[in-house]
Amino acid sequence: MIKAISHLGVAVQNLEEAREFYRSVFGVESGEPMIGGGGMVRASLVELDNATVELLEPIGNEGAIAKFLEKRGEGIHHICYEVDDINAEIESLKAKGIEALGKPTPGAEGLSAFLHPKGTHGILVELVQKE
Ligand code: CO
Repeated sequence: MIKAISHLGVAVQNLEEAREFYRSVFGVESGEPMIGGGGMVRASLVELDNATVELLEPIGNEGAIAKFLEKRGEGIHHICYEVDDINAEIESLKAKGIEALGKPTPGAEGLSAFLHPKGTHGILVELVQKE
């Protein structure tokens, strides 16, 4: 069972420009950029009261975010839902015919895994078990 939206992943061309936009236009600060996605992404978190926006800038041309930007341009890349027990959740999904894209790995907010949009009504879903 999913219990909350943990964050929205937003693909951006330029992380510093996006952070400046959130700062000057929306009036919110974002966290120090960190490297994620196996070294293919620079990310910064904008923490709001009820959810977080994860700004994602590609590093190089080969990663998932680079490919997404090439095909679709900037925009919402994934929705991350919080779960209590990610391994139990993945087992339960498997029994319902939904396969995770790989094993859970440590990310910005905890252990996380992705579900292919083909099985989830068109949305790349990330599940996270917070630490
Ligand atoms: Co994410």
